[in-house]
Amino acid sequence: MSSSILDSAPPLREATRAALERDYERFGDAGLPADLAGYVADEYGIGLSGSYGGSPIRCVFGKASGQLSLQRSQVEGDIAGGLGYVILKTVIAQDAGGGQSMAEWAIPETRMLVERITDPEGDEGWTVTWKGRGWYGTFDEYLAFFREALEAARGTGVLIVPSCKYHLPSREDEEWRVGEYAYTTSRLVEVWRDVVGDSPMPIEKDFSPTLAGDDRAQSSRQILEWLRRVPGLIREGGGGRVVVGLKLMNAMFDDAFQLDMIRAATDGDGHGQGADWLVIANRLFDAGKEFDGKRGVAYGGPELSKRNLRTLRQARDAVRDGSLPAPPPISATGDILTGRTAAEYALAGAENFQMHTLFQLPNTEFSAGGLPRAARAVHRLVFHPIHGFVACMARLKECSGSRGLHTLGPYSVADARLLGGLPPL
Ligand SMILES: Cc1cc2nc3c(=O)[nH]c(=O)nc-3n(C[C@H](O)[C@H](O)[C@H](O)COP(=O)(O)O)c2cc1C
Repeated sequence: MSSSILDSAPPLREATRAALERDYERFGDAGLPADLAGYVADEYGIGLSGSYGGSPIRCVFGKASGQLSLQRSQVEGDIAGGLGYVILKTVIAQDAGGGQSMAEWAIPETRMLVERITDPEGDEGWTVTWKGRGWYGTFDEYLAFFREALEAARGTGVLIVPSCKYHLPSREDEEWRVGEYAYTTSRLVEVWRDVVGDSPMPIEKDFSPTLAGDDRAQSSRQILEWLRRVPGLIREGGGGRVVVGLKLMNAMFDDAFQLDMIRAATDGDGHGQGADWLVIANRLFDAGKEFDGKRGVAYGGPELSKRNLRTLRQARDAVRDGSLPAPPPISATGDILTGRTAAEYALAGAENFQMHTLFQLPNTEFSAGGLPRAARAVHRLVFHPIHGFVACMARLKECSGSRGLHTLGPYSVADARLLGGLPPL
């Protein structure tokens, strides 16, 4: 990881460190406090609550879309475990007649392999290898699951967000299948309105690593056109009752292109139709690696967080020098296994953090191995006395003070973002 303000920030004060060691141990045995954000604000002066794409969330840590958000019991575990939001598994869009142009992404799940990975610089981490793709049940089953998840979250302050993969033309002269956008989005909105009410429904549009490696994504021009058009198409499809986040892929092009993608998603089609937030960014793609007889797999690990952090820092610098318009709010994903990595994403501009691999690590990686999956992950992210989020934010708070930044209330992710935007110490 390249050097950041956290490398030079003062060490944790002794009293804070002792309190964290105490809490790490006792919450690891007894489970997390029921009002996690309230406890952390009172005890440490650190704010855990925040927002996701404009919606308030009780905790800035959430679950990323995937194999761990396709059943009601998983969502219930996430709510009980202290997460602030859950992005449901990606469903493949269809039109009113059941036509699915992206049907090749609706293939059954196969085994998942959680394995160690070493990046090109020799840093070690974890990745999950598999060859499944999107939701492979029926769309009606997805709608029923979406309803169950919303009902389970009602009154808890946890945000539930569907994720979708819609038609994308592979050539400039190919028509957009707007029927997929209209039918799928409007059915999802019906469920949202039934359970939640009139507020706009948030939805994530997934640009996945397998898409990055697909023939459709060989033309950089075509990718930029998708990013400009898709937010408007989803909004129209949902009758104006949706807010749209684009989960960017790590395309098979250079770093500069990642910035081009951010620009295109921010600008939209030129009629104020850019994305409402961005998720940066889905996993990398290894076209040569083979798994279970299939060539080409997605991967994560330290190479992913390094690339995403590089993209975000470059974007921040480009905004500062006026060469990039300010993007909408950013949700970070990729190799967030510690609160420290989340804090780095915050300093680079992200406002919340979504994980997948962390929840799949072996039990030996957690000191709170007796807690359920989501709770033990939150325990590690928040309370670890060295690489936990509270430890890192408490250290950043000291830097804020020394740089004349004063916060009202607990020191929050928004403050860290401000600090990250200042020139280096
Ligand atoms: C097994 C698996 C399945 C995934 N499925 C989806 C998916 O359906 N939709 C999506 O947007 N991202 C999917 N992802 C990507 C994750 O949501 C996440 O953004 C990515 O893995 C990076 O985070 P991580 O390093 O914490 O795993 C999947 C990831 C894994 C490992």
